[in-house]
Amino acid sequence: MKGISKITQLLAQLKPLYKKHDKSLLFHGWHHIVFVRKKALKFASLIDADKLIVEAAALTHDLNHIIKSGSNPEIGMTLRKEFLSKAGFANEEINKIEHVIMEADIRIRNEKITPEGMALSDADTLFKCLPIMPIFFTSKYIAENKADIYKLARKIISEQEPLIKKGIYFYTDYAKKKYSDWAKCNLQLWKNVIDALEDDEIKEVMKSI
Ligand SMILES: [Fe+2]
Repeated sequence: MKGISKITQLLAQLKPLYKKHDKSLLFHGWHHIVFVRKKALKFASLIDADKLIVEAAALTHDLNHIIKSGSNPEIGMTLRKEFLSKAGFANEEINKIEHVIMEADIRIRNEKITPEGMALSDADTLFKCLPIMPIFFTSKYIAENKADIYKLARKIISEQEPLIKKGIYFYTDYAKKKYSDWAKCNLQLWKNVIDALEDDEIKEVMKSI
């Protein structure tokens, strides 16, 4: 019961904050947080992870994007602490949530992360390889982060390919079984983007748009 009220209080703070930023957070907006929260809870229940920690981590993991677009999770640490503390989380819980968010960061995550980190990582990573991503969200990501498509393709490949090779693109058996084809297809798409951007006629097209 205590846990439910902390999440309710966290939601009451975060929802209006995200609403204020919905014009700029085209990719990392409230829709993303809601998706990651729900999927992370589902994965958490399958691997017996602490649901309160997972839910709080999912709700706060991208606060850095409110401070600075294109930034990394460590930038959101102070703001996260502020919101979690206001919602009634104890210091010990806040430290655990922070640890889970950092260990699930796609730039550094490895084989040895906690079940809570696995649940968060699978949900956040799944969003990146959804088949609707290239159709609806990639252009939003580019607009939100003022990204260069060539650099973005390189970033995605350099982050995601080693994880597929190491077998930790997803951690839970459920996500591995259900979504690994999406992950491989997404990676191939971005490799095709790099190939396409090296073609002279396509380069010309890109310069003119
Ligand atoms: Fe995220």
